[in-house]
Amino acid sequence: MPLTAHEIAAAKRLENVRYAIRDLACVADEVIQQGHKVLPLNVGDPLNFDFQTPPHIIEAVYKAMRDGKNGYAPSPGIPEAVEAIRGEAARKDITTVRDVFVTSGVSETVDLCLSALVDPGENVLTPSPDYPLYSAVLCKLGIGLNAYDLNEDDAWQPELADIERKLSPRTRGIVIINPNNPTGSLCTRSMLEKIAELARRHNLIVFSDEIYDKLILPDSNGDVTPHIAFASVAPDVPCVTFGGMSKNYLVPGWRIGWGIVSGDAAAVKTYTEGVHRLLRARLCANHPEQYAIKPALEGPQDHLLEVQRKLRSRRDLTQKWCESTPRISCVAPRGAFYAYPKIDIPESDEIFVKELIRQKHVMVVHGSGFGQKPGTQHFRIVFLPDEQTLTKAYAGIAEFIRERYGN
Ligand SMILES: Cc1ncc(COP(=O)(O)O)c(C=O)c1O
Repeated sequence: MPLTAHEIAAAKRLENVRYAIRDLACVADEVIQQGHKVLPLNVGDPLNFDFQTPPHIIEAVYKAMRDGKNGYAPSPGIPEAVEAIRGEAARKDITTVRDVFVTSGVSETVDLCLSALVDPGENVLTPSPDYPLYSAVLCKLGIGLNAYDLNEDDAWQPELADIERKLSPRTRGIVIINPNNPTGSLCTRSMLEKIAELARRHNLIVFSDEIYDKLILPDSNGDVTPHIAFASVAPDVPCVTFGGMSKNYLVPGWRIGWGIVSGDAAAVKTYTEGVHRLLRARLCANHPEQYAIKPALEGPQDHLLEVQRKLRSRRDLTQKWCESTPRISCVAPRGAFYAYPKIDIPESDEIFVKELIRQKHVMVVHGSGFGQKPGTQHFRIVFLPDEQTLTKAYAGIAEFIRERYGN
């Protein structure tokens, strides 16, 4: 006799977990099944486009595998990688390093660092718009969101007054993403100093996601403002700086990231022990790939010049298009490979994005997938594709806007 099937319910905590970037894939699949090619300006994977992993780091992993480095690694990471990351911290002017650990991508650093911090009823300030993993992990932990606004009128800097409003005695930490996904903005030194001041006053730990710190773009005068690590500005403030190989070294599929704990030694001690309990519980990060960390951080950086040259040209093309297209305005991106234009339309940006895929086969991600101020609409562009592809995609978006909304 067949057994009656009982539905296995998913945890209620997951109801608010969304990953708009990948959720749009169903709409794209419809269009692909109809025989169309979709122009993918939605996923931040450089390897989908004309970017290549530096060969010497591939060799390092290959050698590690051949040399039998295929068992479990030490939970905090292999010693030579940890040392290389300490060297990187020194180059970022982080002087009070208390701990370094290697993870399976910054994604795992985010998960471990948030999990090790908060208890039910507490909260962590996260930016809005944000990289959606932060809210997803907090939902998974059953922690209510406490988002602070980034101010579009101030080049997407964190809005301090909003942070002050959202702080409560139950706030344990604050996340900054610098360079930012999805806005492409950089935090100014004075903003970092102000956040440090708030963290000191309210006993917060700062999580500074700096995964794009080597992908810095010049301003309109051609000047490059160097990236400033939060921990270098506030050596006393408890901080975990997140870094990784996915973007700077063009290996998102390897899943290698890390955390650098800095700040007053006594202040971070117990928290760091908590992180290590979780590091041990999940055994280790990918082992052979960790052998690429030292050659990546200490070896030739030539690929970065090529990446920055391509990104600059594609950013400029994107910015020009935004400036010349009715209903669109955009703060020029200064880092990473994202632009986050505002769009003036009489319907939601989610409908805009879905219809754009259906009608013009161009895929961008709606602002509501990242968070935005009520009453505003945005979409995120990944400007990794070559100039020809971007030009074609932008022509499609402009035509769609004209046909659907008029100028
Ligand atoms: C701001 C930010 N943090 C973290 C990640 C995740 O990086 P990883 O590939 O190291 O898990 C991403 C990926 O796009 C990101 O944009």
